[in-house]
Amino acid sequence: MEKFIINGGKKLNGSIEIRGAKNAALKAFAAALLTTRPVLLKNVPEVEDIKRMVELIQSLGVKIEHIKNGEYRVTAKKIETYLLDPAIAKKLRASVVLTAPLLARVGRVKFPHPGGCVIGERPIDVFIDGYGALGAKITHNGALYEISTQKLRGSKFIFPNISVTGTEAMMMTASMAEGETFLKNCACEPEVESLANFLNSCGAQIIGAGTPNVKIRGVKSLRGGIYETIPDRIEAGSLAILAAATKSRLKIMKCEPEHLDSLWSLFGKARIKVKINKSSVEILPSFSSSSVSVKTREYPGFPTDLQAPLCVLLTQTEGHALVHETIYEGRLNWTDELKRMGANILALDPHRIEIKGPAKLKGREIESPDLRAGMAYIIAALCAKGQSTINNIYQIDRGYEKIEERLKKIGADIQRV
Ligand code: EPU
Repeated sequence: MEKFIINGGKKLNGSIEIRGAKNAALKAFAAALLTTRPVLLKNVPEVEDIKRMVELIQSLGVKIEHIKNGEYRVTAKKIETYLLDPAIAKKLRASVVLTAPLLARVGRVKFPHPGGCVIGERPIDVFIDGYGALGAKITHNGALYEISTQKLRGSKFIFPNISVTGTEAMMMTASMAEGETFLKNCACEPEVESLANFLNSCGAQIIGAGTPNVKIRGVKSLRGGIYETIPDRIEAGSLAILAAATKSRLKIMKCEPEHLDSLWSLFGKARIKVKINKSSVEILPSFSSSSVSVKTREYPGFPTDLQAPLCVLLTQTEGHALVHETIYEGRLNWTDELKRMGANILALDPHRIEIKGPAKLKGREIESPDLRAGMAYIIAALCAKGQSTINNIYQIDRGYEKIEERLKKIGADIQRV
């Protein structure tokens, strides 16, 4: 198994380009199945989760051409089966969004509970209830769910919990239902809005995506089109945090700074200097940064996917910080290893920790439990004195394209072995 060997304690310098957002591109692949016409996907990150999605869609008999790096063409002229291959679907939480086009195109879908449990329980009740509201019937035989419908009818649905994939799946399904659908308490993440813009460019009629209330008028069919993946705000935020934690000067290029306003506001309070431009951000070395407490929230709040990198930064700033993870109950477990690297962390309960900084981190051998914690370990290893080994880097490759090659270019001592 591959691992990263990192020698920490060095300042980084230079500029780094952001890739397309994994969590946007994954949904665009699913949306491409709503039409029989070709869809061209651009700026797709070449990461493991995308490869799993491509395999899963190909196993449905849909044609996918990998045209060149970052570019794919999906042509779902025919969909040959309504079973999502359980072996692949279980590896990927985003597999659940494929239920939406299958239900809309084939009227039926059979699938396992999707993967992704290391950060906490990840239920799918909003999908089940949402599809039920559109007229689908749901059964569960112990191993697989089956959802079927003769006809999807527009309806009103209020999400009991704000769900990103749930909102995306309902927008796709309702786009092909008869009549109007009103969705309330929707996720407002930029990935949701980007998906709606793409669907509208193919002929869908979605109003309000990016706000809590979304109205969808169903249409009979969708055209093909082109999807340009938005920049990955989590990758951009993680690299900004890396620069702040290592007190480095770093320019983050080809990003959408507005998608990270919650991070810039937190940097302001922590006295970390940032220059924000239209599509780039420059982080300046800050030697007197102070700790700031944070609560993860749905967009536009502070993203749970940046909680782990931020915790590493808070080991390097001065003072006490309370970190409250409100979205996932298992997403602070990774900090046990950070403590072993020398961080001063007190676990208060499964959702809250207190971090006292600054701490001198020491290199260690660590195991990456999920992709965001994996990125946090890279940041911690680059801050630490001495050598660290990060095992199980498949988890990091799930979401970050060739991260070691890009980090080397800004001066990081990191090797894949
Ligand atoms: N929830 C329910 N019932 C459901 C679905 C969700 O109770 O049926 C709860 C979850 O347990 C959680 C909350 O709602 O407490 C939010 O979950 P959500 O459905 O929004 O998460 P998701 O759509 O499965 C996406 C991203 C995650 C990201 C979250 C929150 C994708 C493929 N995944 O997950 O990304 O953390 O939104 O922003 O888009 C990652 O990339 O590392 C990652 C975990």
